[in-house]
Order: sequence, then structure tokens, then C-alpha cells
Amino acid sequence: MSEPIRVVVTGAAGQIAYSLLYIIAKGDVFGPNQPLILHLLDIPPMMGVLEGVVMELADCALPLLHGVVPTADPAEAFKDVSAAFLVGAMPRKQGMERKDLLSANVKIFKVQGEALDQHAKKDVKVLVVGNPANTNALVCAKYAPSIPKENFTAMTRLDQNRAQAQIAAKTGVPVANVSNVIIWGNHSSTQVPDASFAKVVKGGKTLSASEAVNNDAWLQNEFIETVQKRGAAVIAARKMSSAMSAAKAAGDHMRSWFLGTEPGKYVSMGVLSDGSYDTPKDVVFSFPVTIENGKWQIVKGLQIGDHYRQLLEATGKELVEERAEAFAIIEA
Ligand code: NAD
Ligand code: LMR
Repeated sequence: MSEPIRVVVTGAAGQIAYSLLYIIAKGDVFGPNQPLILHLLDIPPMMGVLEGVVMELADCALPLLHGVVPTADPAEAFKDVSAAFLVGAMPRKQGMERKDLLSANVKIFKVQGEALDQHAKKDVKVLVVGNPANTNALVCAKYAPSIPKENFTAMTRLDQNRAQAQIAAKTGVPVANVSNVIIWGNHSSTQVPDASFAKVVKGGKTLSASEAVNNDAWLQNEFIETVQKRGAAVIAARKMSSAMSAAKAAGDHMRSWFLGTEPGKYVSMGVLSDGSYDTPKDVVFSFPVTIENGKWQIVKGLQIGDHYRQLLEATGKELVEERAEAFAIIEA
């Protein structure tokens, strides 16, 4: 067994955290030999609820959980953490786009960027889940200048998981038989789910998604729209935004980052764009990445078809607009 690492989850009294804390504490993210001390941050009015969450974590009797630090103080929450799940933020309601949350949420990520800068380990890996996740991650990175920019990422793994599940259902294979579906761009309704390079294992053979689905019109239209609008569909049905699937995706994202991707496979993450694939630089854009030794690298050299190129342009444009809006709100 190694020494325990400190992991912070913000929004710890909220609905995503309620599923996520168990996934982390039982070892699904950092591995079965990695003990943890969980730091739980929420706002002062939620401290009573958080107390109940702490009781439940104790009652789970999880061997890897070596300590819990519930707090409303960002300095205590971010002290010496190696991993940060930034979940705490307002969720959207029916009829809203995620970017409508900018004015409510963006300042949270400025404060938390500053707190990470002052108190976290310099190699902390930060996953932003709170919406609009890409732009919040950009803001957080900007206010944590002593931490490398590549340590700030935004979650599009839920979109990747949704896309994989759609293709698995369409082709009649288990979801684990589908890999390398890409999510490009923003975690918003302009995101680009792209199955052009996806693989489907069916009947003992590895096929392209196009061969397995045998319906390119579906892949270029209905598939994309279903994934783009899945968050809204869950809100319409549940009257609350996705939580169990969001927690699972957050665990998947951090596990890939800490433990690496499998040979020949890649995953999608919102990372600071270096301009790859003619995307705008200095926005947090979701790319396919491979990960080794805790470092991600954008998969280069994929030939993007015209249909997707136009969609990539639109999602990049939206991120540039969100960036301007976010910094205008912060500087106002
Ligand atoms: P929730 O309202 O159930 O919980 C949010 C929690 O955050 C609350 O307990 C609240 O008190 C807390 N909080 C608010 N401000 C805080 C602050 N400054 N510091 C610490 N905690 C704070 O919401 P939820 O369903 O858990 O969703 C959280 C966020 O995640 C929302 O913005 C939602 O839109 C987003 N989300 C993102 C994805 C994704 O794929 N990227 C998926 C699902 C949800
Ligand atoms: C999701 O994709 O489910 C989340 O981002 C919540 C939302 O607002 O759609």
C-alpha cells in the first residue's frame, strides 16, 4: 500500500458528489492499492447536509478511505491535494443552455483557481465538471499561474460514454466493444460526436463504426444530435440534470489520467488547445488524447472530413465567445 493521497471534491453535498464520492472512495479511480483522504468542499449553508454525507461515508466502511475533511473553507479544502474534482456549481434547468450558467458560476472557478494556486500540490490534476465546464476550466487555469496549464481539464467523458452507448445499442454489441469515438469541442449542444475513427468489435472482427452501423446518414445526423442533446433529454425526464452518469464519467476521466489509456485506444478530454486541427488556441477544447505516466497528448494526424470540419469550426467559435463573456463577467 502506498501513502494516502489527498483528493478534493467540491459541491460535495450535491447530487453528482453523492455518487462520485463512493466511486472514488472504494478505489475505482486511483486503483485498489491507493489509500485516500477525501476533502469535501461545499458552501456554509450546506454544512448540515455535508455532515450526513460524512456519516454515510464512514458507514460504508471502505478500507481505502483513511480520512475525510468536510469544510466550507477553500484554503483547507485545497491543501496538499493531488487531484481535484471541481463539481460545485449551479446546474441548468429545462430550457437553458449550459452557457447561460456563466454569470452564476464563472467566479467560483476564479476563487478556486486562486485557492489551488496557493494550497494544492503543484502537480495537482484538476477536472472541471461544473458547467459550462470548458470555459470554467480555462478560468480556473488562468487564476492558478503556478500550476502547469496542462493540469486543468474539462469533462467531456460523459459525452464520450453516451456516444459509445448509442453505437453499442445500434450495432447490438456490449458497450465495451466500442472504442475511439471522439468528442470534439465544447461540452454544449455544439459539441461534435465523431465516430469516423471508432472501432466496433462484432462477431470476433474489428470493424469501423461505418461498417458496423451500415448507415452513414445516421452517424452524421441522428447520432450526433442525440449525444448533443442528451443532457437536455435527461433534464426533461428527471427534472434534474444527470448525476449518476456524470459521476461515473468523472471517475473514468480521472482514472484514465492517473492510470493511462490502453494501447491503441484514446479518450476525449477538454484540454487547453494548442491550435491542433485548426481549432482556436487558448480555449479548453475537447480532443482525443492518449495518456501515459500521467501526461496526456492530443492524437495528431486524423483526417477530418468536410462535414466534421464545419462542425469543429462552430464549436470553436462558441468557445471563443464564451471566453470573452467569462472574462467580461470577472472583470466587470
Ligand atoms: P447540485 O446543485 O446537486 O450540487 C451542486 C453543489 O455545489 C451544491 O451542494 C452547492 O451548494 C455546491 N456549491 C455551489 N457553489 C459552491 C462553491 N463555491 N464551492 C463549493 N461548492 C459549491 O448540482 P449537481 O447536479 O451536482 O451538478 C453540479 C454541476 O455539474 C452543475 O454545474 C452541472 O451543470 C454540472 N454537470 C456537468 C456535467 C459534465 O458532463 N461536464 C455533467 C453533469 C452535470
Ligand atoms: C449533462 O451533460 O448531462 C450535464 O452537462 C448537465 C446538463 O446541463 O446537461
